[in-house]
Amino acid sequence: MEFSRIFMFNCCALLFCTALAYGQATSPPAPVAMSPTPAPAPAPAPAYVNLTSLLSVAGPFHTFLNYLESTKVIGTFQNQANNTDQGITIFVPKDSAFKGLKKPSLANLSDDQLKSLVLFHALPKFYSLADFSELSTKGPISTLAGGQYTLNITDDSGTVHLDSGWSKTKVTSAVLSTDPVAIYQVDKVLLPEAIFGTDIPPTPAPAPAPESSPAAAADSPSAESKGSDSSPESSPSTSSSQRILNLSIWNQLVLAVLAAGIVLFF
Ligand SMILES: *[C@@H]1O[C@H](CO)[C@@H](O)[C@H](O)[C@H]1NC(C)=O
Ligand SMILES: *[C@@H]1O[C@H](CO)[C@@H](O)[C@H](O)[C@H]1NC(C)=O
Ligand SMILES: *[C@@H]1O[C@H](CO)[C@@H](O)[C@H](O)[C@H]1NC(C)=O
Ligand SMILES: *[C@@H]1O[C@H](CO)[C@@H](O)[C@H](O)[C@H]1NC(C)=O
Ligand SMILES: *[C@@H]1O[C@H](CO)[C@@H](O)[C@H](O)[C@H]1NC(C)=O
Repeated sequence: MEFSRIFMFNCCALLFCTALAYGQATSPPAPVAMSPTPAPAPAPAPAYVNLTSLLSVAGPFHTFLNYLESTKVIGTFQNQANNTDQGITIFVPKDSAFKGLKKPSLANLSDDQLKSLVLFHALPKFYSLADFSELSTKGPISTLAGGQYTLNITDDSGTVHLDSGWSKTKVTSAVLSTDPVAIYQVDKVLLPEAIFGTDIPPTPAPAPAPESSPAAAADSPSAESKGSDSSPESSPSTSSSQRILNLSIWNQLVLAVLAAGIVLFF
């Protein structure tokens, strides 16, 4: 008897608190509740990505973009992005990577070699970061340069490592990863064995200590520098995650109110 009355009262208290919380919940975030209605479909339009304008605002990738244009490989890349089902994955070295290039210089390469070197920085297929773990098991991966121009790609718990023989580097951030176009920033220029031979320079001792945040680099690829024409996907996702955050804060508030009610009752 006693117990069931306590139980009843408890239920009433719960209902009351919930109703209270709900009543409050519906009034203040009214503008938020509106937003899901008019914008239900962040239409996955296979948007055209202008590689030139994207690369000119991201990075800085000016050196690579200059090579893309002087070798006309930009047209090949854009065509692969526009007109194929497979899409394209491009590894873009930052300007500092070209400045750091001392030993084998690009200055003495023939036009054909330079063109191959630039093509070597792309794969004829779209790969999301998550796809690389599967790619790891497949041995040398063909690049757009074809033939012997292959890259070894390994995924080390989320960090994507690239090995061209001459260059060992990794993906440091994702500039864009929306099917059919993926653009990943890398630390070094990829120097193909097919050009520079197998006389591999001694690798500098791989710094063991500062490997603290491999996951951070890959898990949260900073999509900081998107071109203006590539942003439609980013805003809905941030706002929805904000909404989730706000929801969870709200839930905690409701829980706290409930808990307080129960404690008071006893
Ligand atoms: C791509 O962007 C570049 C630079 O912003 C511009 O010059 C070019 O016309 C654009 N191409 C197309 C097809 O819109
Ligand atoms: C790619 O698509 C854009 C927009 O449809 C077009 O302007 C551009 O010429 C295309 N470029 C190539 C290389 O197909
Ligand atoms: C490039 O060529 C110049 C002259 O043709 C030569 O002196 C230089 O050593 C070459 N550099 C490399 C890296 O092969
Ligand atoms: C890539 O991996 C293969 C074995 O899967 C190996 O024979 C080859 O030497 C590697 N190439 C480079 C550039 O590391
Ligand atoms: C979530 O709350 C933050 C402040 O905590 C606010 O700036 C933001 O607009 C809210 N987002 C939504 C979707 O309500």
